[in-house]
Amino acid sequence: MPTLAVIGSQWGDEGKGKITDYLAEDADLVVRCQGGANAGHTIKVGNEVFALHLLPSGIIRENVLSVIGNGLVIDCEELRSELDMLRRTGRTADMLRISDRANVVLPYHRLLDGAEERARGAKGVGTTGRGIGPCYADKVARAGIRMGDLLDEVYLWERLDTIYPQKEKFAQSLGIRLEQEKASLLRTLLEYGNLFRPYITDTSVLVNDAIRDGKKVLFEGAQGTMLDIDYGTYPYVTSSNCTSSGICTGAGVPPSAVQEVVGVTKAYTTRVGAGPFVTELHDAVGLHLQNVGGEFGTTTGRPRRCGWLDMVVVRHAVRLNGVTSMAMTKLDVLGDLPSLKVCVAYDIDGQVVSEFPGSISRLSRAKPIYEELDGWAAASCRSADIVRKGYAALPKNMRKYLDFITTNSGVPIGIISFGKGREETIDLRRRKW
Ligand code: IMP
Repeated sequence: MPTLAVIGSQWGDEGKGKITDYLAEDADLVVRCQGGANAGHTIKVGNEVFALHLLPSGIIRENVLSVIGNGLVIDCEELRSELDMLRRTGRTADMLRISDRANVVLPYHRLLDGAEERARGAKGVGTTGRGIGPCYADKVARAGIRMGDLLDEVYLWERLDTIYPQKEKFAQSLGIRLEQEKASLLRTLLEYGNLFRPYITDTSVLVNDAIRDGKKVLFEGAQGTMLDIDYGTYPYVTSSNCTSSGICTGAGVPPSAVQEVVGVTKAYTTRVGAGPFVTELHDAVGLHLQNVGGEFGTTTGRPRRCGWLDMVVVRHAVRLNGVTSMAMTKLDVLGDLPSLKVCVAYDIDGQVVSEFPGSISRLSRAKPIYEELDGWAAASCRSADIVRKGYAALPKNMRKYLDFITTNSGVPIGIISFGKGREETIDLRRRKW
């Protein structure tokens, strides 16, 4: 049963898009299971660069079935514009399938996202403003609209009849007005229904049949472990389970369906939005990581906060996701830093803590305990040379850095990525999946 999951080990932006695209070469299906247009997966193919938000990364490859699972929240306008972008590059959406059970991000969810953020004031989460939280909240409150509903006018009208007045009241309490009247919203949703009708189906049946038939299925994670609604830095998190647990509910597959889990880990740490970040740097090194690493959000363009690699976070991710191997990204960005720090534990109120704390107030008092390693010259690891010569040609200190991560996490490194391109990759896996 050749299945594989690609999961972010940190706060998202680890390079999952590139790794998923790389691994998708061998895949029959690429399945997204959670999140929405808050994600930003950048994929470079030759001179083309794709910034995907909703479409699974497999969509760039021919003959790969790309599935948007039931666990996603779908902004139909965003999906329409991504499909237009795809067509402009000469590709088709023929291989796309969308779950009839996925919830729809309605125009008022974006509005409410902004209003709720403003109401939180200085305690804001720093959301992407894409309506993700309000949409998931409605899903759980049983006040959502699902993709399948867009195909049934009578039922959709009934749903809006119940839901819309509640939303109007809620919006009023936040001092805003819903932009669209109920009847106009119905028309818009029916148009989307017509547009996406060819792709909407029961994707759980499709994915399980594929697994049963021995097809290669890749589950593509969005965001990262530390943004997980249960195990991230709550409340500074997104509103879905970004850990591998989200695959079962978000794709409609049993736990046994996930055989291997690749934890994508950036060689340092970044996060966008608010919330504690123990290894954050406010100095020249932080600026180096931001500038050399191009650390600006794909979705919002916001500068990402940068810091040293945090192994407390990585070990938390390894345990929660059942990571079987790691894909290390952006090692090249560390070049020319004379020494490198790696956080191995936290000092909280004078105690050494090696597991990521659940309490945000304890976490905000945590100080990093570092081990220091020697750096390497950027000139010694130009990606073209490295990819040609392989692992043995890596600078000695880079290999020591990688060994340190393997030993500290207990997980082997299967892939090393040095740039956005497919070819800028060293594959250390003994066998392909
Ligand atoms: P939301 O998902 O828009 O509700 O935002 C909640 C938090 O998750 C904010 O701190 C966002 O910046 C962060 N976030 C959401 N999606 C991503 C992502 O794909 N990469 C990095 N951060 C994200």
